[in-house]
Amino acid sequence: MTHTEPTADATPSPAGPPSPIPPDSVPLYGPRYQENPAQLYRELRRTYGPVVPALLEGDVPAWLVIGYRELHQLFSDPQLFARDPRIWNQWPNIAPDWPLIQYTAYQPSVLFGEGPEHQRRVAAISDALSGVDQFELRTRCEEIADTLIDGFAGSGEAELMTQYVYSIPVMAIAGIIGIPIADVGDTARDLVTSLDGGEEAIPAYQRVAARMGALVAAKRADPGPDVTSRMLAHPAALTDEELLFDVILLTLAAQEPTANWIGNTLQLMLTDDRFSLTLSGGRQSVSQALNEVMWENIPVQNSLGRWATRDTELGGRHIRAGDALLLGLAGANADPYVRPATGAPANNAHLSFAHGSHGCPYPAPELAEVIARTAVEVLLDRIPDATLAVYPDELTWRSSFQIRGLISLPVKFSPTAIAR
Ligand code: HEM
Repeated sequence: MTHTEPTADATPSPAGPPSPIPPDSVPLYGPRYQENPAQLYRELRRTYGPVVPALLEGDVPAWLVIGYRELHQLFSDPQLFARDPRIWNQWPNIAPDWPLIQYTAYQPSVLFGEGPEHQRRVAAISDALSGVDQFELRTRCEEIADTLIDGFAGSGEAELMTQYVYSIPVMAIAGIIGIPIADVGDTARDLVTSLDGGEEAIPAYQRVAARMGALVAAKRADPGPDVTSRMLAHPAALTDEELLFDVILLTLAAQEPTANWIGNTLQLMLTDDRFSLTLSGGRQSVSQALNEVMWENIPVQNSLGRWATRDTELGGRHIRAGDALLLGLAGANADPYVRPATGAPANNAHLSFAHGSHGCPYPAPELAEVIARTAVEVLLDRIPDATLAVYPDELTWRSSFQIRGLISLPVKFSPTAIAR
């Protein structure tokens, strides 16, 4: 989730020789992922079963796990399916400029930790996030949302992804971790740029790292009521370096999924008659829409990944030591084993926040919901007559096989209908 150089640290080393590419492997890139991934996962399950031989960009092999039970098995056995990518048997075939390097290059953050060391890091995060007052967070999100809407309310039109959706989680999280108000705007812009990829991404990430480094130093000298200070004071006794990696990771881990949860929910409410984006739709429909997106059109559709520590079997496939396994979160949610034929269940038994020791740490999913719900509800309150400014089938989706999110969400509305 961050931009890092491949590590020079050679321990642990690849767990086995590079695996051969199964002849029927499915490319996980190209336009099919932008169009109708739900349909694609159904087809993959029919053709390949719960564990699909897949090819990442550059034709690098990995197993895409789309069976609900098989994914649970992956989450439940971290000793067999490890998070540390240094054991990957494909490293000899990976170039330093491989497009997915930032998801696989080891870095000393909580993301790639294992065992008791990982538990220590995640405990500091969970305890610090548990100190966030969710009512205050809601109020802060309302202010952020209102200010953004003020910027376009008089014009009668807006491109919601850039003018609204992307700014809300990053500004909310920057506030939670204690970034000074005056720096929140610049930090938020740099974080979004660093996640966008391209030439500007690395300088933007370096500016974020420099600001976060200054934040850690400032909070060590003068703690406040924020997540960074609570992590500093935690019995886990994090070093400044550990804290820096984990505070940056928190911000990056929160941004894309929460933004696209908001975007995908607004898209559903703007295009599906069951969720008309009107005040008469009421609060209940916001809850239903947020939940339905978590089953049907989830913001993190696939995630890299886990690495097999030894030869094993999963879903009828022979997995070799050092093979990469992708979390097929969207595919697993669509598994008929958990899905009635009638549509998305009303419960939250989906795997969209993953599960197990490396799942989205408590209470991050609750905070994400406060942010997403507030963003949708404030828009609905302020712009009750918003409608799509293009035909639904003209909306375009990002090409990422990991993130499911819109490139743009243009709306039009009556400027006179806006009052606060
Ligand atoms: C809609 C919102 C969100 C979704 C769908 C989501 C989903 C996920 C998923 C699927 C993972 C596991 C990835 C893996 O196992 O490889 C994860 C991990 C993580 N998430 Fe979230 N997340 C969301 C919001 C947040 C927020 C708001 C925060 C922080 C405030 C956060 C912090 C983290 C962290 C720190 C991890 C890494 C945990 C570890 O490796 O031990 N997430 N998230």
